[in-house]
Amino acid sequence: MQKITKICCIGAGYVGGPTMSVIANKCPHIQVTVVDINQDRIDQWNTEDLDQLPIYEPGLKEIVAENRGKNLFFSTEVDRAIDEAQMIFISVNTPTKTYGKGKGQAADLKFVELCARNIAKVSKTDKIVVEKSTLPVRTAQAIQNILDNTGDGVHFEILSNPEFLAEGTAIDDLINADRVLIGGNETPSGQAAKDALSAIYENWLPKERILQTNIWSSELSKLVANAFLAQRVSSINSISALCEKTDANIQEISRAIGFDSRIGPKFLNASVGFGGSCFQKDILNLVYIARSFGLQEVADYWEQVIIMNDYQKSRFAEHIISTLYNTISGKKIILYGWAFKKDTNDTRESAAIHVANALMEEHAEVIVYDPKVTESRIYQDLDYLETRSPEENRRLLTVAKNPMEITTDAHAIAILTEWDEFKDYHWEKIYAQMLKPAFVFDGRRLLETDTMKAIGFNYYKIGQS
Ligand code: UDX
Ligand code: ADP
Repeated sequence: MQKITKICCIGAGYVGGPTMSVIANKCPHIQVTVVDINQDRIDQWNTEDLDQLPIYEPGLKEIVAENRGKNLFFSTEVDRAIDEAQMIFISVNTPTKTYGKGKGQAADLKFVELCARNIAKVSKTDKIVVEKSTLPVRTAQAIQNILDNTGDGVHFEILSNPEFLAEGTAIDDLINADRVLIGGNETPSGQAAKDALSAIYENWLPKERILQTNIWSSELSKLVANAFLAQRVSSINSISALCEKTDANIQEISRAIGFDSRIGPKFLNASVGFGGSCFQKDILNLVYIARSFGLQEVADYWEQVIIMNDYQKSRFAEHIISTLYNTISGKKIILYGWAFKKDTNDTRESAAIHVANALMEEHAEVIVYDPKVTESRIYQDLDYLETRSPEENRRLLTVAKNPMEITTDAHAIAILTEWDEFKDYHWEKIYAQMLKPAFVFDGRRLLETDTMKAIGFNYYKIGQS
């Protein structure tokens, strides 16, 4: 089995950065170089002030501090790192296509393809190429084709090693992974490559948790795992709507069904809707693949998970509008939270973007506070929707640094991310500062109903009448 001493990872994002930091930390004998074409990103990874790393993940900065400059490097010298490494991870972004065939559904593989072409061009020795980005099924084949046809007699072995880390708990998910999936060709060199990658993970994970499969199963498992998780959230969210029409309480239902060991308690928290870079994209991919094979019923079945999620986001916004007497024009509405979940500064597909947009359509005066998301990110998210001009977005929505001050004369507060700090706010003081009646719309079921009502709030909690 080939001994791996040098790894290169292309793409210093949410997947590449934390994954490589943990590999470097757990494998002191391996030199790990993370490369990216984005100079700013690399500069941020190399920053002296570890609070300025481009990604916020609990536990990440400590690991970067320990390994950076020893066996963990961040660089823009892509070609050199590829040339030197025996194993190359591809961790570039694969957004949903915004043009052409498969627009709005299929993953855009142009960044992955560019990487493959670059690897083929630069490599002078045999390489194991590991696909780490979230990819549609059969991407490995595409990468293999490019490498086989453009490489210079060099042997490339492709592996699929999907990422299962969740943002906000990435470091813990990597260190204590439930399982690692390694897909590869069922040939002697494919087996050797799988074993070489497995040996890396075996530095900190028990061997029984490292599953080897064929390449198709590995790629599809990633989509299916995310589709199942997202489906649980959409399922419980669909019932949250029913609870609001009856006297049932969604939390009691989650608890009651979660006690069934076949169902289990996780991923049953009703919310304003799931977000993140994976769930929607992976389901769209699944839908696209099913449709392209003529499996209409399969495609429709999974598409419903996204339809329900969109419904949950609009339902929440519409509830705010109707509760505020169907006129929110000029009313000051505070949004607590913009990230798609707590403990991350990632906002991709965040429900907050859609709720804010709906409120802005009604000309509300929206003010956002999020402990980790920057002002420029928030405006980028809104501008990307192209609902209105960038100037109009900046006129209708402002971003605040102080969560308390902004509540003065506010009509309503909507909680869109479950940041812990929101629980500890001085809610009596906030109530005193707000216009009356003072409304709180809790899209994350974060606060106590009795306490909020006792203070005097008109308090709405998703999934409860
Ligand atoms: C997910 C998968 O969990 C991970 O395995 C995969 O590698 C990438 O996609 P991530 O998107 O980082 O990870 O976050 P996750 O914790 O899964 O949450 C996704 C969304 O669902 C968030 O918006 C979260 O708030 C929401 N959610 C989750 C709920 O609304 N209710 C729940 O019970 C759980
Ligand atoms: P993910 O969540 O999948 O990690 P990100 O967008 O956070 O996605 O990170 C992907 C990174 O990949 C970005 O920093 C981007 O600049 C980088 N990238 C994209 N294409 C290339 C390429 N051809 N070579 C090097 N880096 C690339």
